Amino acid sequence: MGALKVIALLLLAELAFSARLPPKSDVSFSENYYVRWANDHTRVINGGSEMQLVLDKVSGAGFGSRSKYLFGHISMKIKLVPNDSAGTVTAFYMSSETDKHDEIDFEFLGNVSGQPYIVQTNVFANGVGNREQRHYLWFDPTQDFHTYSVLWNKQQIIFYVDDVPLRVHKNNEAIGIPFPKSQPMGIYSSLWNGDDWATRGGLEKINWDHAPFVAAYKGFSVDACAGGVESCSAPEGNWWEQEAFQSTDEETKSKLKWVKDNYMIYDYCTDSKRFPTTPADCGQF
Ligand SMILES: *[C@@H]1O[C@H](CO)[C@@H](O)[C@H](O)[C@H]1NC(C)=O
Ligand SMILES: *[C@@H]1O[C@H](CO)[C@@H](O)[C@H](O)[C@H]1NC(C)=O
Repeated sequence: MGALKVIALLLLAELAFSARLPPKSDVSFSENYYVRWANDHTRVINGGSEMQLVLDKVSGAGFGSRSKYLFGHISMKIKLVPNDSAGTVTAFYMSSETDKHDEIDFEFLGNVSGQPYIVQTNVFANGVGNREQRHYLWFDPTQDFHTYSVLWNKQQIIFYVDDVPLRVHKNNEAIGIPFPKSQPMGIYSSLWNGDDWATRGGLEKINWDHAPFVAAYKGFSVDACAGGVESCSAPEGNWWEQEAFQSTDEETKSKLKWVKDNYMIYDYCTDSKRFPTTPADCGQF
């Protein structure tokens, strides 16, 4: 491939992707989502452009998408529980919710005031996960809304925080590792009590004197294919299936390295206590 063609492709990728971060127009919460549990612990405000989940001693809460999707760019703007959020877990994830489910997770583990959140990510295929990574963030996620998103196509899953790639999970079916590509997934979020494990491994419990804990959401449009294998697997047509999004370009690789060098605090790939033999999908970039 000629240098010009490479540059043109990179520009195209940049344009196509940045054009979708953030989504051009937004829709109200109820257009794409509904409250799945504890309606009385949710608040839909500003004409549906913002929604909040509330956790107190009585309950947490959760919402989900009305449709299930197979491939696309899934994103949400989230402002995490401020101040003392120790023991709380805010999850933003996709799941097929079947017996052998596929799942793509962001989990935000709260902390005592002034101490850093952890973002834990994971990918499940056919019911098997065990692919946790953990990162700190380069900003305070409780001060403003930030965009957490997933680019998901047949070749890879990229987790983004704003425009920074946090993690890439490749399709390694070629070496016999299942990849999420045939089960449509819903988009979910919930806020719950995870104080048996979330903060400093469960040492910090929720301080209920500081309840209610509130996580806020915006950006409810979905740029993904609603449907199943028949309707969503066409090789062309959807922007996320274009060649530019099937591999990891140099800019993405260098940003990933920056994240890994500065903010990664746990990687299943290097946990030799848990996995004496390095998992086969590690190092398969
Ligand atoms: C968080 O703490 C700041 C100051 O430390 C305070 O002004 C603010 O009201 C607190 N927010 C909540 C939601 O408790
Ligand atoms: C909470 O803060 C402690 C102390 O700084 C840190 O070790 C831990 O990784 C932070 N995050 C969580 C979720 O425990």
